[in-house]
Amino acid sequence: MFFRRELPEPPAGHTFDIARHGYASLLTGTRAISGDDAAMVRARDRFLPTGRYAPIRQAVACLAADAVSDQGTVLDIGCGTGYYLAGVLDQLPGARGLGLDTSVRALRSSARGHQRAAAASWDVFRPFPLADRVADVVLDVFAPRNPSEFHRVLRPTGRLIVVRPAQRHLAELRGQLPAMVTIDPAKEQRLHKALDPFFKAADTQRLEYVASLARQEALDLVGITPSARHLNRADLNGDDLLPDQATVSVLATAYRPR
Ligand SMILES: C[S@@+](CC[C@H](N)C(=O)[O-])C[C@H]1O[C@@H](n2cnc3c(N)ncnc32)[C@H](O)[C@@H]1O
Repeated sequence: MFFRRELPEPPAGHTFDIARHGYASLLTGTRAISGDDAAMVRARDRFLPTGRYAPIRQAVACLAADAVSDQGTVLDIGCGTGYYLAGVLDQLPGARGLGLDTSVRALRSSARGHQRAAAASWDVFRPFPLADRVADVVLDVFAPRNPSEFHRVLRPTGRLIVVRPAQRHLAELRGQLPAMVTIDPAKEQRLHKALDPFFKAADTQRLEYVASLARQEALDLVGITPSARHLNRADLNGDDLLPDQATVSVLATAYRPR
């Protein structure tokens, strides 16, 4: 079966179902408590192809290419629609990829995202359904993290690449929409504390630029953030409320396993 051929053997006795929509359905038992809903996935599917986040995808692909050869295996945890995984695979023509996410809506898009990428439902907070040291790159882009599992599945020569928002990220949107979730000033400290037992930072890139936004793009950008769940239509309805540009400010770090 596809999964057995393309990926490390599943645990003994397990078989994987490939859903009609192309992703492997591995998540059984208790439902994960988090994951993007259909509206968030539609917003992501519209927004990312606009190219407004293309510089982030480029930075991730460059960090991955600096770290591994063409032939690597790339995991994307909380892959969403698979936009960043596809960017890395384009940069590494001999590599293959696997995206994991709890959102089956996102996985449907991700499964179509790249010829060399597979997609499977999984909860990042559970032990991954993968053997030790199978991955050359683990991506975590704006997604939840499981540092000990990242470490277990990475080869010693591999890299974990983490992208997260910096303080000024989407400042104009936050300024106009007070209901948007703020960025915790202690976020970097918490990230360091969680990763430090397992990883050492090797290369950090700070990206900051202003992206112009058509109204639908601004709506979609709000719709793909964690704030989407806290805002209702009334928050967004005034035409003058949404800015026509936003600062994109993120940090992308490649970590070496300890
Ligand atoms: C902010 S989105 C980022 C998606 C993608 N990395 C991107 O940047 O386009 C966070 C993603 O993590 C997924 N997610 C949330 N909780 C998860 C969990 N417990 N296990 C796996 N994925 C999860 C969501 O469904 C969503 O696709």
